[in-house]
Amino acid sequence: NGVITIDRGFKNTGSCESEITFLDGEKGVLRYRGYSIEELAEKADFLEVAYALIFGNLPTQEQLNKFHADIKSKSVVDDDIKKILDAFPKTAHPMGVLSSLTSALTAFNPSSVNVDSEEDMYNSIVKILGKFPVLVSWTMRKKQGLPLNYGSTSLGYVENILKMMFEQPNESYEISPIIKDALDKLLILHADHEQNCSTSTVRIVGSSHAGLFASLSAGISALWGPLHGGANQAVLEMLEAIKADGGDTKKYMAKAKDKNDPFRLMGFGHRVYKNFDPRARIIKKAADEVLNDLGIEDPILDIAKGLEQEALSDPYFVDRKLYPNVDFYSGIIYRAMGIPVEMFTVMFALGRLPGWIAQWKEMRLNKEPIGRPRQVYTGENLRSFVEIENR
Ligand code: CMC
Repeated sequence: NGVITIDRGFKNTGSCESEITFLDGEKGVLRYRGYSIEELAEKADFLEVAYALIFGNLPTQEQLNKFHADIKSKSVVDDDIKKILDAFPKTAHPMGVLSSLTSALTAFNPSSVNVDSEEDMYNSIVKILGKFPVLVSWTMRKKQGLPLNYGSTSLGYVENILKMMFEQPNESYEISPIIKDALDKLLILHADHEQNCSTSTVRIVGSSHAGLFASLSAGISALWGPLHGGANQAVLEMLEAIKADGGDTKKYMAKAKDKNDPFRLMGFGHRVYKNFDPRARIIKKAADEVLNDLGIEDPILDIAKGLEQEALSDPYFVDRKLYPNVDFYSGIIYRAMGIPVEMFTVMFALGRLPGWIAQWKEMRLNKEPIGRPRQVYTGENLRSFVEIENR
């Protein structure tokens, strides 16, 4: 009707209908394809969750075997990608590198841009699921000065990620079942979250019919920001700063409440969850278990728990319904697993990959129109051009 309603941050705007993820922010409910996040985190492995997100149902063993075999058969990354990786300075942030390499894959896989048939779509999907963990591991290893390696076709998807990331030259890497289970759980908990910032980015880029890899590269960039996935790195840096400050949580609480201070309590608050984030509950419990199982005592965990306790009884946080989110405790587990802080958001991207793919696929299959929001113009009225010497 020509009337444009502005909804800053799209707080109350639905951009699509979706069958993938159900979220009730008041009740703290999260389900992928109808399966509760609690049950999936407990019983499933990441690849079967990825399958369910992308194809609608949990796979049979036969479907899973084929899916995994197809992914493995496409997991080789062109050697020239290594040259691109070499050109980055050592100081480059892994998220920038990952986004660039994901985009660069398009050049080596030009057919992935066309998705004229479901077969094309499937091929692009298994390709990126095969190559992305290689890019993740190379991004980390390059920074650490380790040789770039490939995984093993005899390993499961998550075991293979661990091997590619952590295997040292001339050493056989023993996969710890504790670490494998923890990574499975973290990846599952991050696998989708309906129309969040990065997923909406993937959908909107994909809506112009840019290919899957280009859309994912944009999604990775969106995830990088500290208000979104980058919060997991920011949380750990914040907890470290509090520790270095003698554990003075009160000082940081005061900063977070001070409206003249841009500081926010990282890992707190959520656009949709207004009572608790179900993922944070599971991760908090897992952090305790993993550290205990690995025999690690991390003072950061105590600082985090103390901060949570204080925030939960502080009127500022209570009134605004601010609770720990998925990023608050995840970094503590990543760190216990030996993952460097700058890689935390990359791990989030690895987990979110199947969600982005599922949402992109749904968007294309539903033939969504190009995403193109409107605006209300508030600039100058028509005025005359003034020659440069007269301005
Ligand atoms: N610390 C202090 N105050 C906060 C925080 C925080 N972490 N989060 C929100 N607020 C305040 C905010 O200042 C505002 O106060 P007021 O009403 O007085 O102006 C009120 O709470 C509402 O905040 P908002 O920014 O309007 O809420 P939003 O829905 O636009 O933002 C958020 C949600 C997640 C970006 C925000 O809570 C935040 O910046 N949190 C810290 C960063 C973070 O942990 N991000 C991870 C989000 S979960 C995983 C993911 O998406 O990747």
